[in-house]
Amino acid sequence: MNAANVNRFSKWTYVFLLFTALCCLFTPAVSVKKENFKTCSQSGFCKRNRDYADSAATTSSWSSPYALDPASIKFDKGQLTGNVIKTLATTGQSVRLPITISFLESGTARVTLDEEKRQTGDIELRHGSKARKERYNEAEKWAIVGGTQLSAGAAISKGSETGTTKVIYGPMSKFEAIISHSPLSIDFKRDGVTQVLLNERGLLNMEHWRPKVDKPAKEIKEGEEASEPVEDPAAEDESTWWDESFGGNTDSKPKGPESVALDVTFPGYEHVYGVAEHTGPLSLRQTRGGDGNFDEPYRLYNADVFEYEMNSPMTLYGSIPFMQAHKKDSTVGVFWLNAAETWIDIVKSKSAANPLSLGIGSETDTKTHWFSESGLLDVFVFLGPTPKDVVGAFTGLTGYTQLPQHFAIAHHQCRWNYVTDEDVKDVDRKFDKFNIPYDVIWLDIEYTDGKKYFTWDPMTFPKPIEMQEQLDEHERKLVAIIDPHIKNEANYPIVDELKSKDFATHNKDGNIYEGWCWPGSSHWVDCFSPAARAWWASLFQYKKFLGSAHNLWLWNDMNEPSVFNGPETTMPKDNLHHGGWEHRDVHNLNGLTLVNATFDGLVARNKEEEKAGGVRPFVLTRSFYAGSQRMGAMWTGDNQAEWSHLKESLPMILSLGVTGFPFAGADVGGFFGNPEKELLTRWYQAGAFYPFFRAHAHIDTRRREPYLLPEVERGIITQALRLRYALLPTWYTAFHAASTSGEPVVKPMYYVHPGDEKGFSIDDQMYLGSSGLLVKPVTQEGATSVDIYLPDGEKYFDYSDYTQHKGPGHVEVEAPLEKVPLLMRGGHIFPRRDRPRRSSGLMKYDPFTLVIVLGNAGDAEGDVYLDDGESYDYEQGAYIHRHFKYDAETVSLTSTDLSMAGKKTKAYLDEMKSVRVEKIIIVNAPASWKHKSEVRVAEEGASKSSEAKDVPLKWFAGESGKADWAVVRNPGVTIGGGWKIDFSLDSKA
Ligand code: GLC
Repeated sequence: MNAANVNRFSKWTYVFLLFTALCCLFTPAVSVKKENFKTCSQSGFCKRNRDYADSAATTSSWSSPYALDPASIKFDKGQLTGNVIKTLATTGQSVRLPITISFLESGTARVTLDEEKRQTGDIELRHGSKARKERYNEAEKWAIVGGTQLSAGAAISKGSETGTTKVIYGPMSKFEAIISHSPLSIDFKRDGVTQVLLNERGLLNMEHWRPKVDKPAKEIKEGEEASEPVEDPAAEDESTWWDESFGGNTDSKPKGPESVALDVTFPGYEHVYGVAEHTGPLSLRQTRGGDGNFDEPYRLYNADVFEYEMNSPMTLYGSIPFMQAHKKDSTVGVFWLNAAETWIDIVKSKSAANPLSLGIGSETDTKTHWFSESGLLDVFVFLGPTPKDVVGAFTGLTGYTQLPQHFAIAHHQCRWNYVTDEDVKDVDRKFDKFNIPYDVIWLDIEYTDGKKYFTWDPMTFPKPIEMQEQLDEHERKLVAIIDPHIKNEANYPIVDELKSKDFATHNKDGNIYEGWCWPGSSHWVDCFSPAARAWWASLFQYKKFLGSAHNLWLWNDMNEPSVFNGPETTMPKDNLHHGGWEHRDVHNLNGLTLVNATFDGLVARNKEEEKAGGVRPFVLTRSFYAGSQRMGAMWTGDNQAEWSHLKESLPMILSLGVTGFPFAGADVGGFFGNPEKELLTRWYQAGAFYPFFRAHAHIDTRRREPYLLPEVERGIITQALRLRYALLPTWYTAFHAASTSGEPVVKPMYYVHPGDEKGFSIDDQMYLGSSGLLVKPVTQEGATSVDIYLPDGEKYFDYSDYTQHKGPGHVEVEAPLEKVPLLMRGGHIFPRRDRPRRSSGLMKYDPFTLVIVLGNAGDAEGDVYLDDGESYDYEQGAYIHRHFKYDAETVSLTSTDLSMAGKKTKAYLDEMKSVRVEKIIIVNAPASWKHKSEVRVAEEGASKSSEAKDVPLKWFAGESGKADWAVVRNPGVTIGGGWKIDFSLDSKA
């Protein structure tokens, strides 16, 4: 939401809202105001760098003016340093740019280029600016948490050709970086084959600092006519160097032009993924025009884009400048560590190596061009070879998602707004009345006293604690919104403190910056300041945030930051943050710093809880950067109740998963507008497969809690919710994998089957973790079936009736309204909890069902991970992590331990001793089991076979195209114990 909604309490606004609401009833379609956001040609440095690329492409004698001075090269302990010299075409003068190329233990290479004059502060700022003189060099402080250890094994190769330096590095020394000195370029090879090229096209550009030279105005003598100035054709276009205006705002640019740019080529790679957050397909489009391509580069400049559009490279709320390139059986990637406004151009062309091969079998190169407005040039290169390796290396640097509290992966109910504490309690009761499970109810901005965060409206929320107590009765939680804009009003202690302690962001003149957001006139907390962060964190203490209870969690919104009267709905770029950094340098990190402080606040607050060591925080954020995944969940902002938005939520969430942010979701039902029953139903079915599953709606929409729907849709939605709840053990296991390896929670086809080219563009179906569950939510109005692509020759079974499908290829799966198209891939085992409960907290000691899906080879395997779902005790061994394997040869199912024992293991296992496996379902059970009636169960430690028990098995024939299946009820084993079930007992004919 943006400026249009500022004065929500004026009379005219009510009239306007009424009018809009009426309009909504008839014409819900709305669209972005493109004129509020820059196109590339309206962004000075974007245009300059695109023009630079055009000159390079069209000038036959083009040569990049950057060279590495060979005499300056030093190599020590995995790191090469030296000086790059930029020679100015006009004067022949040179600019010294120190370069560092680091070869990391993980096999990642990092190239960092700085500017000597800026490093030493030997520059002058214009307009008396108080900004820092260096190029921004602290992005890593926020984004990177590990994996930067230098490689002991990396070494310069003696056999380097003249004019090059070759470094051998990486796992088993399989990687090479061949650095050509003049012009500077780097060729990264794996197993002797080029994978990534830097500056191959000569688009490296570091706009060095220079003083502004005011050209003397030509004196006009009496009687002479003023002539048009004669343009020097070699002169650069300076029109956007010294200041820049857009939408009535002028950016003073005290450092002049300072952009950094580089081309990155992926030879032989046809697909690139990543650079979230955008709408549009998972496999990124080309951006320089042509059929089906965009005309604009992908933009990363976190912004509150009101009524954003589908299939667009426009910026959105968050930025992750990480890209993967993928081809059959090979993945590589780059991470562009820069927090300033960034654009990325993508073009694809037939490989120069094989220009005549067209069509199938021909090789495509993907050529990318990255440019940022300021900061260091800092790029990481990942050589794979699998998607898992590349995502693993990226998240090894930027961190894994925290293991969420269990409630956080269940169903969330939000709307703008639940209007009173009684309203919240009533909604809570209604969910129970209709037996619809949910875990969390949310409060939007109206709960506050006049949009003053950390307060409650005394008229509408007089008893917040009572409200939270009612929720707690069923283990439910409350999430309240706290935004970073602080109301500028007298007698509001938070703003008084913000001002007196000087914790707010400053304007270019060094005064507290003032702008407009929900409360009207506001100031913004500057979480780049350690002291401001500590203060912000302290505000979440129970004794400070009065009325907050232990089951209250947080939502940080508008943290791009959204400023209704600011340029492009955000802060002026010449605003100043802690340490003298200009907002331009840090913009894309702004949201991360706020969530970081909130997260720290919750960690500290939770330590006050009885549970020793505290419980894990939950924070939802709208704005993010690489690394924000460590702190919690994100959602895709203000979408619309339209089929197109439901459809595009899937590639958006998949894209976030492969860029390291797995805990992602979209507003179920669509934020703006009123969804028809069918759309809402389908959206719940899709939402049941979003890692973050929250229904949300705009203040002007009609209420749409699932119990308000007619019986048919209500029933279907309840089933979708029950499906989510039954599969929570599988979700939690997938989140555990994400939190320990950076894996996505929902995975696209290319990620799971990197060798299957037909799957590389597919982004409307996804796997849940490693469970083999493959879902394709219906996103088309009126659909009664869907086409699912099966990537391999494995058997796939319909989740609900075991209908058998066989790949590879496309299969049609029935999808009447009541059905989510969900298949189970043969060869997997996944855990469920089938007892319907009101909330996930009430499932803590429920028994498990194991579903064993036998594939072509007759085998299957899978895992379960569980812990108390809230504390950090798992770090001391308080968890269960089992591997299940059904082996066709020995005809047995075993449960083995994957855990590492710790101080708290025993106590936890004792607590969970009574949690049983109540049912084992074997899908695709062999026909030879027809007369089998028993299995033999032996628990770990039971050495004598006499201690084994025989338990009944029942076999069922599948009818017409459905798989046979069998069930073992109450095998008498626990979820946490070791055991073996023997299915080989002779059939009793
Ligand atoms: C923003 C958020 C939306 C929220 C609204 C009011 O538009 O994206 O989710 O409901 O602000 O706080």
